[in-house]
Amino acid sequence: MDSILVSGGGELNGQIPIAGAKNACLTLMPATLLSEEPLTLTNAPRLSDIKTMTELLQSLGAEVTSLQDGQVLAMSSHDINNHTADYDIVRKMRASILVLGPMLARDGHAVVSLPGGCAIGARPVDLHLKALEALGAELELKDGYVHAKAPGGLKGGTVDFPLVSVGATENVLMAATLAKGTTVINNAAREPEIVDLADCLRKMGAQIDGDGTSTITVQGVDRLHGATHPVVTDRIELGTYMLAPAICGGEVELLGGRLNLVGAFCEKLDAAGISVEETDRGLKVARRSGRISAVDVVTEPFPGFPTDLQAQMMALLCTADGTSVLEEKIFENRFMHAPELIRMGAQIDVHGGTATVTGVDRLKGAPVMATDLRASVSLILAGLAAEGETVVSRVYHLDRGYEHVVGKLSGVGAKIERIKGQ
Ligand code: EPU
Repeated sequence: MDSILVSGGGELNGQIPIAGAKNACLTLMPATLLSEEPLTLTNAPRLSDIKTMTELLQSLGAEVTSLQDGQVLAMSSHDINNHTADYDIVRKMRASILVLGPMLARDGHAVVSLPGGCAIGARPVDLHLKALEALGAELELKDGYVHAKAPGGLKGGTVDFPLVSVGATENVLMAATLAKGTTVINNAAREPEIVDLADCLRKMGAQIDGDGTSTITVQGVDRLHGATHPVVTDRIELGTYMLAPAICGGEVELLGGRLNLVGAFCEKLDAAGISVEETDRGLKVARRSGRISAVDVVTEPFPGFPTDLQAQMMALLCTADGTSVLEEKIFENRFMHAPELIRMGAQIDVHGGTATVTGVDRLKGAPVMATDLRASVSLILAGLAAEGETVVSRVYHLDRGYEHVVGKLSGVGAKIERIKGQ
């Protein structure tokens, strides 16, 4: 297994290009199942999760061709010959559940393995299933699989989500495009990835209103057609790399970044003493003064502070002046990076969903291990500012969500390299 070696110190200066969003691409890809005509995605990120979704769609009979070094995904689902999403693929990636709604909407039946446990929390899929039932789906759980049927097709209905779920909103939104009649989704997720999905579905002929608000209305149509759609910028990759100059000093421009993707996050950066300026090409980030200030953070669904930036923000706050309190409200087990940061000299107390971080002058390099994608990158950020060398192992987590992390960070002056096979 590869690892990443980071030598701390040194300011970062230059530009980092931001890729298309992993989490948008992972929901746009299953949208191909809704139409017999081709769907082409541009600005796709080059990530192992995208390869896993490719493998899943191909196992169902879809054609997925990766062009231009993976930045273009040409897909066609004219010949879906298998309606079972197998455990062997689904267990690798929870987003696999997103094929359920589209397959069911198009062909009236689907069998999808239930995803297993997850490092950051239980992450059940009950909301996905209840939402599809509201559209008339008949579901049965058997041998670890969801067997779904909609004899006569799905019918528009009202979905009232008791809590905001990005994935469940995406699943039912896709399903509703081909359901007969009108679907109203209440307490819908408002993430930019939802708006991006709705934009793509509209290009395919879907009738959707209200995406980006908590109530989405979908008027079902008989069929969807082909389209070409660019994947929205990855706001989590953007926020992650915004933290690099914030932690290390220097000035970095994030190409393709936009303030509306990272509003709540920028408010916290501002309070911490980090300046963010919108330019023609993206966002320019620098520290305003010497040491950054402590800030409190509560993770929330969009437009609140994203849970996917909590670990990276914690890496910044480890060396802030004062005490910061981070509350994780989305996932119940998303502080696995804290003990590793403590090994690097951070002062962090975790009680349930709250982490109290008391800033220290400097972190110290150490061998560390990550348990999920965002935790991995937070340890790299911490290592960039630490004294000495940090080795982050289990890099396969990083490959799921950050393309060319070594190239992007060394391009702005970071001392970082990938070590094979350790
Ligand atoms: N939940 C349920 N039942 C459900 C679905 C969700 O109880 O049926 C709970 C979850 O356990 C969680 C909360 O609802 O406590 C919110 O989960 P949500 O469904 O919104 O998350 P998701 O769709 O599974 C996506 C991203 C995650 C991101 C979350 C929250 C993708 C592929 N994944 O997951 O991304 O953290 O939304 O914004 O879009 C990551 O990229 O590192 C990552 C984990």
